[in-house]
Amino acid sequence: MEVKKAKSAGFCFGVKKAMETVYQQIEQNQGKPIYTFGPLIHNEEVVKELKSKGVEVVDTVEELKNLKEGIVIIRSHGVSKDIYKIMEENGIECVDATCPFVKRIHKIVEKESAVGKQIIIIGNDGHPEVEGIKGWSSTPAIVVEKEAEALEFSCKSDEKICIVSQTTFNYNKFQELVEIFEKKGYDISVVNTICNATEERQTEAKKIAAEADVMIVIGGTHSSNTRKLYEICKNECENTHFIQTLGDLNLDLPKSVRLVGITAGASTPNNIIEEVQNYVRINF
Ligand code: F3S
Repeated sequence: MEVKKAKSAGFCFGVKKAMETVYQQIEQNQGKPIYTFGPLIHNEEVVKELKSKGVEVVDTVEELKNLKEGIVIIRSHGVSKDIYKIMEENGIECVDATCPFVKRIHKIVEKESAVGKQIIIIGNDGHPEVEGIKGWSSTPAIVVEKEAEALEFSCKSDEKICIVSQTTFNYNKFQELVEIFEKKGYDISVVNTICNATEERQTEAKKIAAEADVMIVIGGTHSSNTRKLYEICKNECENTHFIQTLGDLNLDLPKSVRLVGITAGASTPNNIIEEVQNYVRINF
């Protein structure tokens, strides 16, 4: 029997980098208070482990304002410009683990809004990444997620518009929304800032699930990207299991099983993936 693990399973490049940054900081700054602004990733185990190593989570801007010492690590989602200012004013050391793909959006938004363009962000309003992007526009940015919002939009006919996207937004939906804006006849520049990590993970999962007799999807039950992976795999492979950790795996594999596929959501740590992979390899 063969076990095939998706290369794109688990953390994307930006999250991996942020994780490495935190561990580096722990090593280099023994005894200094270290914080992350918001949980580093949506995985309770990881947040707990970091806490055990002394890394606390600062959840709100108010809490951040009250900090008077220590290091604050910015997670891969990035933050608005104000957050950097608050830290600077309070003498807090900032370690920036913003994903470079998100940083690129900040730069575009800062530059384009500075020359007077209206910024439109295609994404989910309220998502931390989108909140961060908004905070780089010198004039209020507009967030559009649904067709109705795009249809409703209007501005002065001579106004210039710059459209960017949240990195994890669906490409087809982005295209549809952009077309609505284009049809309105405004002067629009569109920068596709979607990161293909999510899409790559889904495409690879689909491919493996199509060949596999059994498919295992690892991730948090609340993680929407893991749920999506599960749906994609289940469509290709009836025998698909959704687990959070090895403890949830209840496998009884018949002899006829030739290929077991494994993939994992974006916030699943590598050690959990490996544990599952080794277990399947050794026991079947
Ligand atoms: Fe990950 Fe950065 Fe893309 S955080 S999903 S690699 S934008």
